[in-house]
Amino acid sequence: MSIDLAVVPVAGRGTRLLPLTKSQPKEMLAVGKEPVVQYVAEELYRCDIHRLVFVTGPGKTAIENHFDIDGELITHLRETGKEEFLQDLAFERDQLEFFYTRQRRQLGLGHAILCAQPLVDGQNFVVALGDSIIGVNGQSQIVKLMIHEFESSQADAVIAFEEVDREEVVHYGIAKPCNKTDGFFELSDLVEKPPVDEAPSQLAVAARYVFNSKIFDYLEHTEPGKNGEIQLTDAIRTLIADGGKVLGVRLPTNEKRFDIGSFERYFEAFIEFAMADPKYGPQLRKVTEKILESYI
Ligand code: UTP
Repeated sequence: MSIDLAVVPVAGRGTRLLPLTKSQPKEMLAVGKEPVVQYVAEELYRCDIHRLVFVTGPGKTAIENHFDIDGELITHLRETGKEEFLQDLAFERDQLEFFYTRQRRQLGLGHAILCAQPLVDGQNFVVALGDSIIGVNGQSQIVKLMIHEFESSQADAVIAFEEVDREEVVHYGIAKPCNKTDGFFELSDLVEKPPVDEAPSQLAVAARYVFNSKIFDYLEHTEPGKNGEIQLTDAIRTLIADGGKVLGVRLPTNEKRFDIGSFERYFEAFIEFAMADPKYGPQLRKVTEKILESYI
């Protein structure tokens, strides 16, 4: 059976978005009309993923509540003649199964994925970061392509990358491709946040991965790095160094990665999604033009 399971880590503290994230998960922040994590779930569902394992932590129960079927709310909308809002709850009807586990200490992304190991139980799986949307409204099909390539080439891992400006490489895990970078390409290394003049490419890790269960062995043996965190990048590097087959693929040019982890990127994402909204976008664009004039 093809991969239909994704691990969605949502346990991070989101300190870069304080005070917004003091008492609400960053993954529940609104981007346009939906919270970030709903776009992530809908994207995965469209890519034929039907089981989601959320790795949660303190203060994240709003995520579990959001994906519950809220019968009372549905009845209330019907009884008060507000049926038109029922379509906004359509995502509740997606045939998704939800599983939740906790990361009891914030020891980094690699550690969060390791927390899901008992639920993954030896299966091949996708990892989708809960604070990143791929494509406007999460319309990307990249995960589907990645799963297909993972299965047909018997890779150990497939990673999505986004081309970033040269000076931006210092913020991301950067690919060192073996040779070509079109289509799917093999990696000879992955370098975490390199200085601009040492970056092996401008391809930054873009929040979507496919793995087999070997990654857990590597995560288990990865020493904590910066800030005492277990880095996923370190585990992938050792996997490659041991001869593991790790492939990369670029996001199509029309599919940006919206990482809402910083205010710069969060504001950009909100504006882009709101402006793309068929109902509210046209008026918002007009108002924005007026606001822009006042800055000239
Ligand atoms: P980030 O790398 O942005 O870390 O997480 P963070 O801790 O959430 O944010 P800052 O740096 O404090 O602002 C990327 C994804 O990995 C998850 C986050 O929830 C987010 O979806 N994550 C991160 C975990 O699940 N556990 C961790 O220990 C760290």
